[in-house]
Amino acid sequence: MSDAPRLHTSAMEGSGSYNRHAAIPASGGALALPLLERAARQIALDHSDRPIVFADYGSSQGRNSLAPARAAIAVLRTRTDEKRPILVCHTDLPTNDFSVLFDVVEKDPESYLREKPNVFPCAVGRSFYESVFPPNYVDLGWSSYAAVWLSQIPASIPGHFFIPRSTGAVRAAFDRQAATDWETFLSRRAAELRPGGRLVVALPSLADDGSTAFAPIMDEANAVVADEVAAGSITAHERERMILASCPRRQSDLLAPFAQTGQFQGLRVEHCSTSVVADTAWTDYERDGDPHALAAKRASFFRAVFVPSLLSALAPSRSAQDRQAVADRLEAGLRRRLLGRPARIDHLVGVISVAKQGDR
Ligand SMILES: C[S@@+](CC[C@H](N)C(=O)[O-])C[C@H]1O[C@@H](n2cnc3c(N)ncnc32)[C@H](O)[C@@H]1O
Repeated sequence: MSDAPRLHTSAMEGSGSYNRHAAIPASGGALALPLLERAARQIALDHSDRPIVFADYGSSQGRNSLAPARAAIAVLRTRTDEKRPILVCHTDLPTNDFSVLFDVVEKDPESYLREKPNVFPCAVGRSFYESVFPPNYVDLGWSSYAAVWLSQIPASIPGHFFIPRSTGAVRAAFDRQAATDWETFLSRRAAELRPGGRLVVALPSLADDGSTAFAPIMDEANAVVADEVAAGSITAHERERMILASCPRRQSDLLAPFAQTGQFQGLRVEHCSTSVVADTAWTDYERDGDPHALAAKRASFFRAVFVPSLLSALAPSRSAQDRQAVADRLEAGLRRRLLGRPARIDHLVGVISVAKQGDR
C-alpha cells in the first residue's frame, strides 16, 4: 500500500444514526450482561465514600450503553447505600458524536439516570489504546463491540475492504496488529483498574476456522463499492485506501496474552466464551415477510457502522455534500443488492471477563 500504515480515527455515523441502527451490537452485548452483573457483585469495594467508577470503553452515541450501565448500577446498589456516588464514564474516539450521547443519557426513558440518585455521567474523547483514566481508578469496566476496531491499518487488502477477506502476508500483518492492539488494550485497562476490579469485553468473533457470518454482506457491499469505482464516483486510489479497521478475533486470540502464565499484566481471566447472537432483523422478516424492510435494516446498519470508515478514504478535497452523496449511493446500492438475497446473519460474539489481582 502506498501510504500504510495509517491510524484509525473514524467513529460511527453521527447525529444518532448509530443509535437508530445498532440492533446487532445491542443483541451481542446483551449476552454479556450476566457476566457484567457477576463482575459487579465480585469487585472489591471499600467502605469509603469515594465514587464507584464504571467505565464504558467505546460507547459510541450511548444508546447501547444504557442497559449495561443500568445493570451494573442495580447490582452496585445492592452493595452500597444510595448516598455513595457512582460515576459512569463513557469513552470513545474524539470524533464520536458525544452531544447525542449526552442527550440520550439525559433524556432517554431507558437511561440509567432515571430515579437513580447520586449517579453521575461523564465522557472522555480519547482512544482506548491510550491511558484514559488515572492508575487504579476504575472499579468496573465494560466494552461492547469496540475493541474489535484496530488502532491502525497496516496494509491494503487487494480487491476488498474487510480484513477477514485478506490472505497471506496481508492477513499476517493484520493478525500481528490485532495481537498487539489486544495486548495494548488489556495493558491500559490493567493499569486503570483498581485491585479487585473487573473488566468485561464483548466483541464480534471469528469461528475457529476463521469464518464470520458478516462476510456475505461485506462481499455485497464490496461489490457496491466496485460499481461506484466503475461509475467514476470513487477513484481507484480512494478505493485502494478503503479498509475497515474492524478485525474480529478467535477466542484463542483473546486468550493468547494469558496463555503462558495464566495472567497478563496482573489480570486473570474469569470467563471466556463464544456464542451465536440472535438476528432480530431476521426474526422480524420471518414474521412480516417484508424483504424491503430487511434489506433497509441491513443497509442502514452497514452505513451507520462502516461507511464513515470508507468515507475517510475519500480525497480530502471532497466536500461534505459530496461525501454525503457517496454514503447515500453506497447505502442505496447495498439495499438493492440485498433485496433479492434475504439471509440470516448468525454472527458470533466473544465475551471475556478479567479481574485485576488484588483485594479479592
Ligand atoms: C460498534 S460501536 C459500539 C458501540 C457500543 N459500545 C455498542 O455496543 O453498541 C464501536 C465504537 O468503538 C469506538 N472505537 C473504535 N476504536 C476506538 C478507540 N481506539 N478508542 C475508543 N473508542 C473506539 C467507535 O468509535 C465506536 O463508537
